[in-house]
Amino acid sequence: QRKIIIDTDPGQDDAAAIMLALGSPDELDILGITTVAGNVPLTLTQKNARIVCEFAGRKDIKVFAGCERPLKRDLVTAEHVHGKTGLDGPDLFEPEMALQPQHAVDFIIDTLRQEPKSSVTLCTLGPLTNVAAAMQKAPDIVPLIGEIVMMGGAYFEVGNITPAAEFNIYVDPEAAEIVFKSGVPIVMMPLDLTHKVLTFGERVAAIRAIGSRPAVAMAEMLEFFERFDIEKYGADGGPLHDPTVIAYLLKPEIFKGRFCNVEIEVMSPLTLGMTVVDWWKVTDRKPNAMVMREIDDVAFFALLTERLARL
Ligand code: BDR
Ligand code: CA
Repeated sequence: QRKIIIDTDPGQDDAAAIMLALGSPDELDILGITTVAGNVPLTLTQKNARIVCEFAGRKDIKVFAGCERPLKRDLVTAEHVHGKTGLDGPDLFEPEMALQPQHAVDFIIDTLRQEPKSSVTLCTLGPLTNVAAAMQKAPDIVPLIGEIVMMGGAYFEVGNITPAAEFNIYVDPEAAEIVFKSGVPIVMMPLDLTHKVLTFGERVAAIRAIGSRPAVAMAEMLEFFERFDIEKYGADGGPLHDPTVIAYLLKPEIFKGRFCNVEIEVMSPLTLGMTVVDWWKVTDRKPNAMVMREIDDVAFFALLTERLARL
């Protein structure tokens, strides 16, 4: 069993990632879910994380609220993709489970100090503010992190929030820079990979057909989420980004990528938040991330559907 902290800004695709993890208790031990401002403000992301746990019948999961805004910038949100609540689609409700009193950044720090060195994987599904803030506040935790598996960035496929940048990195480029320069082993799921994971109608129908409350809610979320993306990308289904992070922990063999150098643009107004990936190794900059590019999308959806059926 691998110990993980899920850092997230739900978000329908974040919800899919959380449910995939909740449906995989043999492999994954979720130490906590830490929330961050991103797709919508923190007041909503922390609430949405608890709603997702309750959809899955898991009020026992610890959910923490973290940073309300990026390290140095104003928050940019994505209601145009996720709807006003961030989780539009199913009928939402006021969650019963309480938010943990501790700040997410302190939970990350304390957990890394308490658990054996390198035993905790950070799964990041939103802007990297909480993780960078933890690294800044307690630099001693950096060598204790086992691995960071993140959804973020883009290189050939380039941007979804600006022509150059992917949303999670764009929202807090300074945080991303801290993380990519930290020396922690990183596995990155960029748009180049997630744009190959499309929510075709029959895939969403298979999830709905499970018939359980979490599965139907998931199908409703995916149907809302894909509306925007189908128009935007002209494909029969929108890209499902964040659950690729969890799928990688469960089935790394369905991913292919390259270990290369990634630097973050933090200055240029035109290309702010761009992940400059040295895919062709044209510099001698040191590789710092496993950058994924290929996925067996059929195997991915089979896994997601199977694990949702276990909830
Ligand atoms: C990322 O941005 C958010 O809108 C999604 O939840 C995902 O984490 C994709 O660029
Ligand atoms: Ca997200």
